[in-house]
Amino acid sequence: MMLKGKIRVSSDKSISHRALILSSIAEGKTYIKDLLKSRDTDCTMQALRMLGVSIYQKDEYVVVEGQGKFSLREPADVLNLGNSGTGMRLLAGLASGTDFMTILTGDESLRKRPMERIVEPLRTMGARIDGRENGKVPPLVIRGKYPLNGIRYEMPVASAQVKSAILLAGLFSQGEVEIREPLPSRNHTEIMLRNMDVDVECVKNLIRLGSNRTLHSPGCIEIGADISSAAYFMVAAALIPHSQVLFEDMVLNPTRTGILDVFRMMNVEFEIINNREVNGEKIGNVAVCYSPHIKGVSLEKSIIPRIIDEIPIICILASCAEGKTIIKNASELRYKECDRIKAMVENLTRLGIRCEELPDGIIIEGGTLKGGKINTYHDHRIAMSFAIASLVSNDNIILNDTSSIDTSYPMFFSHLKSLTKF
Ligand code: S3P
Repeated sequence: MMLKGKIRVSSDKSISHRALILSSIAEGKTYIKDLLKSRDTDCTMQALRMLGVSIYQKDEYVVVEGQGKFSLREPADVLNLGNSGTGMRLLAGLASGTDFMTILTGDESLRKRPMERIVEPLRTMGARIDGRENGKVPPLVIRGKYPLNGIRYEMPVASAQVKSAILLAGLFSQGEVEIREPLPSRNHTEIMLRNMDVDVECVKNLIRLGSNRTLHSPGCIEIGADISSAAYFMVAAALIPHSQVLFEDMVLNPTRTGILDVFRMMNVEFEIINNREVNGEKIGNVAVCYSPHIKGVSLEKSIIPRIIDEIPIICILASCAEGKTIIKNASELRYKECDRIKAMVENLTRLGIRCEELPDGIIIEGGTLKGGKINTYHDHRIAMSFAIASLVSNDNIILNDTSSIDTSYPMFFSHLKSLTKF
């Protein structure tokens, strides 16, 4: 068995959330082309509808009837963001600038995830926020205020969700809004805001909102393919002899391409072709082929935010590499859809891989993936990583549940099938 052919994987999840949210408060209609269809983005779309936004499908577009940032209305019910941390944190920022009450909840996993990181700065900006454990975990009750106070915020963790929540709230402030990140995290919010005429200034790790905070629809937003979704098939192509896959229309924003830097360090053979720019985002094709000399790597702290969602699949690659892989400074992984450090160590150990759990990472000794039973912890990225491990192993690897994959990549198995050749 090998992977061969070309594929346009599903659209970028981070950009899809932002396209829906920002067009909802922009002035004018936005036609979104290639919006990701997934459980997470459906939750965000539904929540925006409950805030009074008209969103509908027209031919190949999702149309958002933006009526400006003051057009939102108090929702008649609780907004349920399902499994989506991005949906909840970004909408918390948006709700903070309204003049009404919004209640945000989610599934069992989301209701365990840390919200203090957004609640604290949003309270500083003047929003009244309550929630379980005094706002540490959802449900969150947000009573918005207009105008919000300005803020100068030094982020304790590099998080695009926190940065974006503050920027969204900042649109409803007349004061200074300045955010400093410890390390650069994905910057899709900044790019899209700029594309909608908002002044956003970025100098190194400092992001500042200028005086124009009114969003105008760019008319059309075209969304490229998600490198975090492609990463699974890229690793499979690198590990399975005779494979060669061309990934089309990939978002190659440098804040997202850490996986390609890791590939370079681990001797994965790939090539970038046909670079272009769409709506301020870099797009290109990436060809990946079977790579017989994959080696372990020790990852620097600065790359971690740029590979945060790809670490589970990097762990699969490391399990099949020659030598040791060391991943540290990644304690954020413990606060994702599940504790991904624990889930990877436990499951890789079951497959006969020698690995060590660190408080903030994992050390993996490359070897051979044996058969075994996997607990996916209802986390899409754990499920997709071990689905790829099952292709690479000569033994049977059985996953207890794969339904979580629908949160980000409902087409995962059908895309995989289309690439599989015997
Ligand atoms: C995301 C940011 C990341 C990432 C998540 C999507 C986003 O989370 O893990 O899957 O769209 O802003 P953090 O910003 O909390 O690290």
